[in-house]
Amino acid sequence: MMAGASTLPMVDRAYGVMIVDTDGREYVDGCSGTICVNIGHGVSDVLEAISAQSQLVTFAHRSQFRSQPVEDLTAMILAIAGPGYREVVYTNSGSETMETAVRLVMHHHAGTGRDIIVSQRPSYHGMTVGALAVSGHPPRRRNLEALLGGVAKLEQVSSSRDAEILPSLEDWLLVLERVDPARIAAVVFEPVGGAASGGAEMDVRTLRGLREFCDSVGALLIADEVMTGFGRTGEWFGVTKSGITPDLVVTGKGLSGGYLPIGACIVGERVLSGASAADVSMGHTMSGNPLAAAAALAVLKYTRDQRLVSRAREVGTFLRGELELVAESVPFLQPPRGRGLLLGMGIEQNPVDFATTPLNRRIVEAALRNGLLVYPSGVDARTQSVMVCPPLTIRDREVEMLIARFTRAVSQSFVAERV
Ligand SMILES: Cc1ncc(COP(=O)(O)O)c(C=O)c1O
Repeated sequence: MMAGASTLPMVDRAYGVMIVDTDGREYVDGCSGTICVNIGHGVSDVLEAISAQSQLVTFAHRSQFRSQPVEDLTAMILAIAGPGYREVVYTNSGSETMETAVRLVMHHHAGTGRDIIVSQRPSYHGMTVGALAVSGHPPRRRNLEALLGGVAKLEQVSSSRDAEILPSLEDWLLVLERVDPARIAAVVFEPVGGAASGGAEMDVRTLRGLREFCDSVGALLIADEVMTGFGRTGEWFGVTKSGITPDLVVTGKGLSGGYLPIGACIVGERVLSGASAADVSMGHTMSGNPLAAAAALAVLKYTRDQRLVSRAREVGTFLRGELELVAESVPFLQPPRGRGLLLGMGIEQNPVDFATTPLNRRIVEAALRNGLLVYPSGVDARTQSVMVCPPLTIRDREVEMLIARFTRAVSQSFVAERV
């Protein structure tokens, strides 16, 4: 249980963008849970698909049976991913998917001496040991370095400019060119940051530059699309705008919109070519179970049929404009950054106050008191931020309700800050 969890409200039910507690209080889900409930709560198409599948079969292991939901889901994911991909390996979370991608990299390069993975700081790729080992998230790595050190030889790239949270292409190349190119196994990145960098976005030039670099030295490129994948950014994937094809695409969260646990690693043609990634990645007991696959399939169909990807773009523009107005009237809030409905706002606070009472936590708590969920992010005082990422289905009047509650929450945190 989380520290302080006993003070949290007890959830009762949820519908659309609203969550209701057992005292009957309603909350606007302004961060889609942990930025995963992409299509909103209680969508009947998904509930019916889960119910129908559960009447047929809930568990059949992939080593013993194929199943229609998994085959249909794989076909749909590969169609969305486009040319260049061969197969999909299923897991139960984003962390497990990143773990799978890292393992596939190691299998792909086995016997070649390639053992270095390069990632950026700040970044977050998951809580399992392999995923955390490639993450640039000091608070989540705390006390665990002994576990993480042996997993992957890690090089991390930070921004050389104070005002920029993410490294530029020049920052990446400076580090990459220092490392023996024959030892680089993979480069891993989040196209738009979440838990670590609160909506900071990589630019197209950097994405293309990393693709070119990996091609030139024979390394694999891993895109962590756990938060950005399946429509959140106003495109199917966070990398879509750049036109690049990463070798491994790591997904989770929005794939099932939070209805059931599932993650999927989308594997490029050149990874372990001639072999099946599913054979070497092994997976877990529950990986690729028909029930979770049926839920994910229903979520993706709903996303496609309701045109939620373009909706994320349109509503994202409206929400961004509203958040800009909030930022103009609050000295410690930076203008929103991010893409589509993956938006974060940086928070300025001196490091001493941050160490005792980080403002983003205070905003999250004040928001909860005002009937709103928002999400804290960042790894230190410089990167602390708050994320406003409602479901892609949010309507304009619900955006207005969200903004009214957010404005109240922020002003209450501000008063508290000045005391
Ligand atoms: C970019 C990114 N990668 C990986 C993960 C880990 O996913 P999960 O929490 O489902 O294990 C997260 C979770 O927040 C994430 O945002």
